[in-house]
Amino acid sequence: MKKIILTGDRPTGPLHLGHYIGSLRNRVALQNEYQQFVMIADVQALTDNAENPEKIRQNILEVALDYLAVGIDPKISTFFIQSMLPEIAELTMFYLNLVTIARLERNPTVKDEIKNKDFARNIPAGFLMYPVSQAADITIFNANLVPVGHDQLPMIEQTVEIVRKFNLLYGEIFIEPQALVPKEGGRLPGVDGKAKMSKSLGNAIYLGDAADVVTKKIMNMFTDPNHLRISDPGTVEGNVVFTYLDIFDPNKEELEELKAHYRRGGLGDVTIKRRLNDLLQAVLQPIRTQREMYANDKEAVLAILEDGTKAAREVAVATMRKVKKVMRIDYFASL
Ligand code: TRP
Repeated sequence: MKKIILTGDRPTGPLHLGHYIGSLRNRVALQNEYQQFVMIADVQALTDNAENPEKIRQNILEVALDYLAVGIDPKISTFFIQSMLPEIAELTMFYLNLVTIARLERNPTVKDEIKNKDFARNIPAGFLMYPVSQAADITIFNANLVPVGHDQLPMIEQTVEIVRKFNLLYGEIFIEPQALVPKEGGRLPGVDGKAKMSKSLGNAIYLGDAADVVTKKIMNMFTDPNHLRISDPGTVEGNVVFTYLDIFDPNKEELEELKAHYRRGGLGDVTIKRRLNDLLQAVLQPIRTQREMYANDKEAVLAILEDGTKAAREVAVATMRKVKKVMRIDYFASL
């Protein structure tokens, strides 16, 4: 029996380079070794987009296209849509009894999001508790591994707490999952220098961006605001172009020389931006081509989602039978 991966993304927009570095790459690399379930988290997306269901619906296809474009293979990985597994919502209800409001309010990722979204005191209850629903996403598949970006670590931590509590109270039926976050640096800042690349911050390079759009974003990247003339000494730390080169440039020796040159002065921003542009275009071009190919066959993409969702639902139904048994709420065999 292969070990299990469960991971996913909110369909609030197409996926970007941060997703690729943070988690999509790992999913492609591990899909042969693990039985992988990849979830489009529309229920979670609705927790802060209740007034905008059409946006979520449209982005389900965009996210599916991104998965296929980077090489997650629907023949070996199972793609599914979260809302079509009502068992996840059911399990969430039971998990909510194992978590305190105070614990939810301490979740650092949720805290950050609340700040960024300007909810002030009007936090939707569904939003505050989405980490609990995420615990249900993961455990209903009894996933061993969850490939995600660093920002998702608090979710996995909270999932482990819920699993421990559930197993202790009702019976040992769930596995404690582990997060898999990227190693080497792996944290991609936005093109504007903000710590996180994000749809909502408007500082992302999307996997489907046209080549000239990518170039434009790179040419406008945040570098060193004090590096005004080419001859000026420049700073490498916090310089987004160098942060990206650290991740995407395979020639580390040359990169170290470039950094030294930039520091002592005489190396222009345009030169390093051109180097990054060449490297990123080489990564993104095959992804873009695949994406366009699938975008021309939407029927096929929908069929992949439908088949995957059916297969995933069978797993969820089987887990809920076990849950209800150990929770002593399996009243009738016929219902
Ligand atoms: N919270 C994740 C994000 O914002 C999406 C997600 C929902 C997820 N359920 C999950 C990720 C379960 C991993 C496992 O990107």
